[in-house]
Amino acid sequence: MSIFILGIESSCDDTSAAVIRDRKILANLIANQDIHKDFGGVVPELASRAHQKNIIPVIDRALSVANIHKKQISAIAYTNGPGLLGSLLVGTSFAKAFALALHIPLITVNHMHAHILAHFIDDPGQEVPPFPFLCLTVSGGHTQIVLVNSHRDMKVVGQTIDDAAGEAFDKAAKIMGLPYPGGPLIDRYAGSGDPGSFRFPHPRVPGLDYSFSGLKTSILYFLRDKLKETPSFIQDNIHDLSASIQQAIVDILMHKLRLASRQFGIRHVAMAGGVSANSSLRKAFQQEKEKGDWEVYIPRFEYCTDNAAMIAIAGYYQYLEGDFAPQDTVPFTRYQS
Ligand code: KG4
Ligand code: ZN
Repeated sequence: MSIFILGIESSCDDTSAAVIRDRKILANLIANQDIHKDFGGVVPELASRAHQKNIIPVIDRALSVANIHKKQISAIAYTNGPGLLGSLLVGTSFAKAFALALHIPLITVNHMHAHILAHFIDDPGQEVPPFPFLCLTVSGGHTQIVLVNSHRDMKVVGQTIDDAAGEAFDKAAKIMGLPYPGGPLIDRYAGSGDPGSFRFPHPRVPGLDYSFSGLKTSILYFLRDKLKETPSFIQDNIHDLSASIQQAIVDILMHKLRLASRQFGIRHVAMAGGVSANSSLRKAFQQEKEKGDWEVYIPRFEYCTDNAAMIAIAGYYQYLEGDFAPQDTVPFTRYQS
């Protein structure tokens, strides 16, 4: 008999609902919140209010796109962290109430693990990574190298000690006067820029850990000095600046990932999280593959940034193990393994 999981994601500024039948996605809907653009970043209070408004219509629509009745749902899986507490509470409250009303199990999903498990969605043309593999998990709030031994056994072997890679993109964009989220815009401008135009220093951090705060500071000082000489420096060089900043972030990410691959003797390498939508990072992975060094696993764009399909697939594996949550479970804000 098929297993139907309703997945709910509300950890940050996207309200998303998905329905999965076993490993196949039947619906994956996302309501984005444009409201944060005016503020240069996500405003937590506004995010939770928008989730409140969006959650029922998004879930209702997901069920109708999937063409299933609520009585067919086997379990409800939702993100219980990490994320913004007010945002998480909206998904949590809905999921608990709906599970109770339908007399079906409740499944709590770790958002960062779900980004990785998006690789296991049944998707024609997409290869599934074999265990063990390494996953570079890069989002707006996290940057991790994860050793993935199974669907449930994931060990963080390296992580940022300050800003996340997505944050580095967004903060660099903000310094250049671009709206939030700046990552996709830098990616777009970089497409017609020269990545060798400007050089930014790389951090020296021991082991497999990352640091991005120094890069942000060096971009800030570099532009401050240039703007003194030429007030239109950013407008004149937006493509080359974007390409050079993107190159610096990708080089930093790839350096530690290569180190991890050598250290663990693992050549199956995947990427996950919002920043894995970045074209230069995807190209850098492809180059490792072409060199014959790695087998690479790159998710489809729609499963890179926050979405509920990844929550539903994570929920599916937890369902198979009977890993259900009680009604008194509470969300968490910071990453826990
Ligand atoms: O995983 P995600 O959707 O949300 C979090 O869990 O944080 O990641 C969002 C992050 C943002 O920082 C955004 O700027 C970045 O992913 N991002 C990108 C691209 N698309 C999204 N960064 C660089 N290039 C992109 N194409
Ligand atoms: Zn995310």
